[in-house]
Amino acid sequence: MPTSQAHNAASAPSHNQLDTKAQAWSALFSEPMSDLVKRYTSSVFFDKRLWQADIAGSLAHAEMLAAQGIIGADDHASIQRGMAQITSEIESGAFEWKLDLEDVHLNIEARLTQLVGDAGKRLHTGRSRNDQVATDVRLWLRGEIDLIADLLKELQVSLVDVAAQNVDVILPGFTHLQVAQPVSFGHHMLAYVEMFARDAERMADVRRRVNVLPLGSAALAGTTYPLDRERVARTLGMVDVNGSPVVCQNSLDAVSDRDFAIEFTAAASLCMVHVSRLSEELIIWMSQNFGFIKIADRFTTGSSIMPQKKNPDVPELARGKTGRVVGHLMGLITLMKGQPLAYNKDNQEDKEPLFDTVDTLKDTLRIFAEMVGGQLNPATGQKEGGITVNAPAMEQAALKGYATATDLADYLVKKGLPFRDAHETVAHAVKAATTHACDLSELPLAVLQGFHPQIEKDVYEALSLRGSLNARNTLGGTAPAQVRAQIARHQARLAA
Ligand code: ARG
Repeated sequence: MPTSQAHNAASAPSHNQLDTKAQAWSALFSEPMSDLVKRYTSSVFFDKRLWQADIAGSLAHAEMLAAQGIIGADDHASIQRGMAQITSEIESGAFEWKLDLEDVHLNIEARLTQLVGDAGKRLHTGRSRNDQVATDVRLWLRGEIDLIADLLKELQVSLVDVAAQNVDVILPGFTHLQVAQPVSFGHHMLAYVEMFARDAERMADVRRRVNVLPLGSAALAGTTYPLDRERVARTLGMVDVNGSPVVCQNSLDAVSDRDFAIEFTAAASLCMVHVSRLSEELIIWMSQNFGFIKIADRFTTGSSIMPQKKNPDVPELARGKTGRVVGHLMGLITLMKGQPLAYNKDNQEDKEPLFDTVDTLKDTLRIFAEMVGGQLNPATGQKEGGITVNAPAMEQAALKGYATATDLADYLVKKGLPFRDAHETVAHAVKAATTHACDLSELPLAVLQGFHPQIEKDVYEALSLRGSLNARNTLGGTAPAQVRAQIARHQARLAA
């Protein structure tokens, strides 16, 4: 006679409890979960992407259990065999992920037990899903940070390449989006290299705190089995620069805090903010009114109604996606704020924002490295299809807006005028040039001398765009000599 599943679960211990949770959790429960609650609580359809980390963590745990004599060598061998099979099943797509089994951890453990019997059931000795999931997320994120580090490097290389090709190209530097002083386009590109270099440093710093082992903390209080946590840390590469294992030192903290995910998302947010600033500039520069650059057609789209349009969709989307990543930061940090120690199921909500942050950042960095620096043509060994710089348009724009007015003031200071007086004198000169609708460098010497008798013929060097650039020859300045030195420094750093 068929019995109800609830009755079945409550009355007799199921032989293979994890095989399906259509029945209740354990003998303690009088009814199974409703379908809605199952869907609400299940995470398998997003956390299954942790499977490799989950298996790696389990294998390291099993190896240690065997080495400590907590499970037998035969059980360890069975677990290894089962996990190898599960790996190939997942890789081939044959693995059946079950919503009923809630998450990646229970899905894999259930399949293991199906494959190897009691050895599979022994794997969870001295472990809880709480320390397991914290370990998995850390292992997975560590791998992703390494990929992000490579992408950040690629983007920096692209920017340095463009800088090296455009050291002597002059564009108007802006403050308040008003023409301020002329700068080298190479110098402008290197400003972003500095930002992305700091982003890379932040990622490396976050990685140190991600790469710490929670496993062995069990549910919250540690475990009664004689685990060797440092052995597990070593197996999983959770070691410091000296190769010493790094293990979470407090079990309550280990299973509950997700600060490592929050700080990663904060670093990712800052990086996206830098991309977003660059995007905004690309968008402005490629507008008709500026016409400073072009980006390759494959990064733009047309309009369904206006045949003349080429829209900078990629930079616009990057600017938009920055909002999305910053949103994930807010989500994660808010997720943490009300949680009492130790683990709470709230933490399951860390996955989707974290995964989406990683995906968005990686895609964005990859696309920007190519959009800025171009794609390698294997036939020529050269990169092609990066941004195209319209140097004459930039220089033309730099000649508007009296970009060398400060240079005239500095010229007068060198002749002995106090800076404030020079500033005032130049304001009069700018007013005159505005009346004549010409640049300061186009005013005749006699007119300039009318503003100050000490102005001589050499003023025109100071008033030229190139003269202005060359004059800013201090560390970090825009003089081509400085820019070239910075390019060399970055090239050496990025080649290392
Ligand atoms: N899926 C859970 C998570 O992502 C795993 C840990 C569940 N632990 C528990 N005690 N319910 O956080």
